[in-house]
Amino acid sequence: MKRYWQHKARLRFIAKNGMRYFLMSRFHLIDGFLMDDEAIALHEASKSIVKKNPTIVEIGSWQGKSSIVIASGLKKNQGKLYCVDPFNGAGDARSAVRYSKDAAALGRSLIEQFQKNISDAGLSDLVEAMPGFSSEVRKKWNETKHIDFIFIDGDHSYEAVKKDFLDWSPIVNVGGYVAFHDTYLNVPKDKSDRLHTGPGLVVKEFLLENSKWKLVSRANSLFIFQKNHE
Ligand SMILES: C[S@@+](CC[C@H](N)C(=O)[O-])C[C@H]1O[C@@H](n2cnc3c(N)ncnc32)[C@H](O)[C@@H]1O
Repeated sequence: MKRYWQHKARLRFIAKNGMRYFLMSRFHLIDGFLMDDEAIALHEASKSIVKKNPTIVEIGSWQGKSSIVIASGLKKNQGKLYCVDPFNGAGDARSAVRYSKDAAALGRSLIEQFQKNISDAGLSDLVEAMPGFSSEVRKKWNETKHIDFIFIDGDHSYEAVKKDFLDWSPIVNVGGYVAFHDTYLNVPKDKSDRLHTGPGLVVKEFLLENSKWKLVSRANSLFIFQKNHE
């Protein structure tokens, strides 16, 4: 039954937004956390990278919903989306309980589900899973391999988002993007048990008033910044 509603949502998305989003519209068939206008903003950012073979990193891939949206934007210029996730349902205290419950209901491991979703979308050539926590993967990352776009959607605690930003943003090319999901600049007290505060605090502290970063796109809780200079 769930599959039926997912297909209906996909068709509605195509009818509203057009056939140019046909491939990325598969994100509707995958469980995850992304709204339509956030998906379009991520896809457009990926597609707007004009150079050949860009490098994109996603921190927090879960079952591949946002990965499909981003990787489908690479079709023309190829390149690679590196998906960093422990694929074990780990996360900040609030999210981990939900992740483990959802992961246990899958009937296969998270990494298998992720790979299946990417393969069903015909995007395996453009996506590489990098199992592990972002800080571990960053330590092993080749320092000379710079990034054109990083999407930060892993551990949403303030400390973790800050570490992801400070670890990875120095290797983002000038002109490249950093995107944050679940970014709320002001979380009302009565909603603080439901909404994440980490990304919003980091965006306010390090990017909004910083000439190095320009806010180029915003959709719901998704913020995308472009690097102006080193
Ligand atoms: C909100 S989900 C990602 C949702 C996904 N982007 C989508 O569109 O459905 C967060 C994911 O980040 C992973 N995660 C948690 N801590 C992480 C870390 N330190 N590094 C990388 N991934 C992490 C979680 O296991 C989970 O799969």
